[in-house]
This record gives sequence, C-alpha cells and structure tokens, in this order.
Amino acid sequence: MRLRKKPHTDEKLQNFADFVTRGDVEPIQKDSARELHVELGTGKGEFITQIAERYPQINFIGLEVEATCVLAAARKVREKNLSNVRLIVFDVENITEIFSEHEVDRLYINFCDPWPKKRHAKRRLTNEKFLERYKKILKVGGEIYFKTDNRGLFDYSLEQFALTGFEVRDVTFDLHANEPPENVRTEYENKFSEQGVPINFCIARAANG
Ligand SMILES: C[S@@+](CC[C@H](N)C(=O)[O-])C[C@H]1O[C@@H](n2cnc3c(N)ncnc32)[C@H](O)[C@@H]1O
Repeated sequence: MRLRKKPHTDEKLQNFADFVTRGDVEPIQKDSARELHVELGTGKGEFITQIAERYPQINFIGLEVEATCVLAAARKVREKNLSNVRLIVFDVENITEIFSEHEVDRLYINFCDPWPKKRHAKRRLTNEKFLERYKKILKVGGEIYFKTDNRGLFDYSLEQFALTGFEVRDVTFDLHANEPPENVRTEYENKFSEQGVPINFCIARAANG
C-alpha cells in the first residue's frame, strides 16, 4: 500500500476539494439525520466507494494518512459520482479532534497495519489507546467492524476489545468460508483471499460509551 510519494499530489487533490479535505468534516455532517460511518485507513478507496454506492442513505468518511492513496480513492469517488463520501488526509491518531463525542455510528477497520513487533504494539489501530478514543466518538451502542488477514493481530485485538469494555460478536476466523452477502471486500481482502489466506472478522460494540 505504501505508494511512492508523487510530486504535485496536493495540487491534484485540489481538483477534488468538494469532498477531500485535510481535517474539516463540516459539510458532510450538516445532514445529521443520516447515519455516519467512518473507515480508518481507507487506502485507495476500494471498500468505501463500493459500500457508499450500496448505501446511499448513509454518510461515509474515509480517513487516510497517505495523500497519494487519498488521490486514488478520490478518483474512484468521482468516477462513481458518489455524493455521500468525504475523504480526509488525516492520521487516525488524532481522531477525537475531528469528531464530536458520540457522533459516529460505525467504524470500519479493514486490514490495518499489523505492526508485528511488540514494541510497536501501540501503533496498532486496535490498541487500547486507540479504542478509548473510538469509544469517545462512537454513539453508545455504536460498532467497530474489524477485518484482518493477520491472526496474531486479530487475537491481540480481541483482547484489547475486552480490556476496553467492547462487547464482541460475530467472530469468525474464516469470513469467506460462509461469506455474508453484505460483506464488501477491500483491496487487501481480495489480495489475501486470492492467496488463500483466511480472513478474520468481528464486530465490537461500544457498550459503555
Ligand atoms: C494495509 S493498508 C489497507 C488498506 C485498505 N483498508 C484495505 O483493506 O485494502 C493500511 C492503510 O492504512 C493507512 N494508515 C496506516 N496508519 C494510519 C493512520 N494512523 N491514520 C490513517 N491511515 C493510516 C495506510 O496508509 C494504508 O493505506
């Protein structure tokens, strides 16, 4: 996923300024009657563009730290003419700065970087430090949909969910063995699936807000 830094990415992103920003999420939240779903680490936008097309009544925001990835995702959004997607060049580390308390209905964490070394555990997007921040912005009863190919990261994440008071359901270590029709495959999911790697999945519910 690490794309080579290409020159003029910022300038190119200007062409998508109607739905791509660097921190301002004001426009999409005006229609507050709609559910708000946020994807963390959107990559090149394969998932968010498919799911937003499927659910036009839901607002989607994709957070992605790499501007080159956001540019690729923005092109897909424009191609599909989606009006319910915003993309933000943003580090999830600072997620509580852009959402109000209990504002978000659902978070998607798809194939986040596993950071396998123990000393890097705090960088994992399912580390307890991150989960505590997600709890602040999720509605009470709001949910995290989590998918990964990495079994070690999955087991670690289940522990972290329990530690931070999330209730976990629908746990599977092989999502594609009996793939639900509502599953939307991500770019990485397709890649791992082609290699025969099983996909782990669960839903974690913020019980205590
Ligand atoms: C392994 S890729 C997965 C991409 C996509 N979700 C998928 O399933 O195909 C992880 C993505 O998360 C992004 N990312 C990693 N850490 C991040 C952070 N702290 N904030 C925002 N994006 C991040 C990376 O730049 C990369 O695009």
